[in-house]
Amino acid sequence: MLRSRKTTMMLYAVAASVLASSVALAADAAKGKALFKDLHFGGGTAGRSCNSCHPEGKGLENAGVKKEFHIMGKKQQSLEEAVNTCIEMALKGKPIDPKSADMANIVAYIKSLGAKSPESGKNRPAAGGY
Ligand code: HEC
Repeated sequence: MLRSRKTTMMLYAVAASVLASSVALAADAAKGKALFKDLHFGGGTAGRSCNSCHPEGKGLENAGVKKEFHIMGKKQQSLEEAVNTCIEMALKGKPIDPKSADMANIVAYIKSLGAKSPESGKNRPAAGGY
């Protein structure tokens, strides 16, 4: 064998970690999207999901880069707080732990929406796509 055993092992390790990280990223936003459409997310009792008011994330394209939010007469200082305000006020549920996996997943989904539209129209072409 020409290639050393060590090199082969290293290649496997690199391939495995690349695979693991890309799968983890994709899974997070996908899980977040499922939560976004879940009628019982956050213990919601209103019979609505996030998707009822923000269909396919419409209107949330800039939320991933904002530092301050104003939702339903309240002010929020983070995306996590904004999500929890909508859980409480709109879904009639209970705020979830801002450090939980569910929160990380829904935040990943909301941030993924921004990738499709320019954050600011100033220096970027108006064309769609990525
Ligand atoms: C009853 C309708 C309704 C539901 C259901 C709802 N929202 Fe909202 N949401 C609003 C309104 C109204 C605003 C404030 C006005 C705006 O920015 O569109 C808002 C704003 C937001 C914002 C801030 C957007 C920005 O750029 O300032 C985020 C993020 C958000 N909602 C996420 C969610 C998530 C996540 C859920 C599910 C847990 C959800 N919303 C469910 C009505 C709703």
